Amino acid sequence: MKTPKWLEDAIFYEIYPQSYYDTNKDGIGDLNGIKEKLDYIKSLGCNALWLNPIFKSPFKDAGYDVSDYYQIAPRYGTMEDLEQLIQAVHERGMHIILDLVPCHTSDEHPWFKESSKAEKNQYSSRYIWTNSAFSKPNNGLPAVGGMTPRNGTYVISYFHSQPSLNYGFLNISEPWQHSIDSKEAKDTRDMMVEVMRFYLKKGVDGFRVDMAACLVKNDNNEEGTMKSWEYMFNIIKSEFPESAFVAEWAQPTRSLKCGFDMDFYLDHGWDGGNGYHHLCRDNDWDRETFEIKFDNSYFKVETNKMISKFLNEYLYRYNETKDLGYISFLSCNHDMPRLTHFYSEHEIRLIYCFLFTMPGVPFIYYGDEIGMSYLHLPTKEGGYDRTGSRSPMQWDHSENAGFSKGRKEDLYLPVDDNLNNKTVVDQIDDPNSLLNHVRRLFKLRHDNKCLQSVNNFKVIYASEHKKLFIYQREEFYFVCNPSLYEEHFILPEEVEYVYGVGEATIDCIKPSSFAIFKRK
Ligand code: NOJ
Repeated sequence: MKTPKWLEDAIFYEIYPQSYYDTNKDGIGDLNGIKEKLDYIKSLGCNALWLNPIFKSPFKDAGYDVSDYYQIAPRYGTMEDLEQLIQAVHERGMHIILDLVPCHTSDEHPWFKESSKAEKNQYSSRYIWTNSAFSKPNNGLPAVGGMTPRNGTYVISYFHSQPSLNYGFLNISEPWQHSIDSKEAKDTRDMMVEVMRFYLKKGVDGFRVDMAACLVKNDNNEEGTMKSWEYMFNIIKSEFPESAFVAEWAQPTRSLKCGFDMDFYLDHGWDGGNGYHHLCRDNDWDRETFEIKFDNSYFKVETNKMISKFLNEYLYRYNETKDLGYISFLSCNHDMPRLTHFYSEHEIRLIYCFLFTMPGVPFIYYGDEIGMSYLHLPTKEGGYDRTGSRSPMQWDHSENAGFSKGRKEDLYLPVDDNLNNKTVVDQIDDPNSLLNHVRRLFKLRHDNKCLQSVNNFKVIYASEHKKLFIYQREEFYFVCNPSLYEEHFILPEEVEYVYGVGEATIDCIKPSSFAIFKRK
């Protein structure tokens, strides 16, 4: 495997910088705040950080609308602050990756402003334009017209404010389209490589890549996008062989084949829902009342969803890619409701036992270690339903939950007003807290090479009739029983109990329990 060595024992902590820790009292988290909390993050067992975009932006999509790749958004600090953060991270033996948004920029990016002009210039083909303000692409690509002096509509990636950069079309169907081999597409790729190089030279350890599957258009099997990544990785990985890239793609058979090191196992709906979906995301809720409409996930104790739903989907992808890189399980991210919205703390402990003992490089979202809630909040910066998972980190019971010494009315988002014991200060010294559960699971990974990222997963027992599920990673056995029934089992070797949730002996597991055993 050509993945960087440091990923073998990496555990990532995702930080939504707006909401982590504010040191300059403006109500918004900042880079210095992250630096101050590094020891806390390390004490959890996380040795790598992923920061959501920190670049200059009008923040119509929380920073996923970059208006200058080479400047830090002033609200987070300066380039020097980033450099100091990188240094502080490395001094602690940790790693840091930034969020690369290669598919689109903000419509306020100077390249787009130039590209929107009627007169031809060097940026005219950096974005994707049709040849008339009255014609949209004939293949259903979303495009916006009537907003610019240029006579054309521009293709967008997400919101209207996010025009797509031009990586070309795999199959050309209209005269204004460029091929992926065109100079125009190559220029875009080279420009993005330059952005990567700029931060890697500063010591950043890699990137999480936004919408990694979407570069090339008319690209049904994503072949063109894969080729584009191969081109970029050939350059950047030869210059920075230890840099790590994680894709927001959720198709490891594609992403890991074209050079990514990791791919997120996101909640994607293909083939009636992917494996992660069946595990803990097969649910829905009323956006007004917040009432749960249904939950049919494997980890919901009352359901009859069997683990086979997950395995049928995961195993194929795992087997196809296990020599190429890692499938990353995650507790949540800034786009999904936190698990606390659907599950009791007990159920979440079980889910964490599973997610954090699987192969691949795991990611935990800030605040998930203390069970922060998914809040009912008005939208902020294009968050909509996602806003509820982006509230300020809950450090303690001081003003603004210790997130900021600024004025309450200036906070980026309000702090949860039901803190209960969901703060770091409440949990850090309590051996029975969720935080310490997370710590123990992470410690187990760090202490045992065979429980780190290495792809050594083996199914021992799975059935269409029982929820009982047993898997093995070398000398460790994992017995998972998120059901209402007691189950009996026989493990193939003599073992001793190591850790778990609920109750189990070496041949019996109680309802709603998870047990980890080690060969004697
Ligand atoms: C995925 C990001 O995670 C999400 O937050 C963003 O809105 C879209 N990509 C568009 O960049």
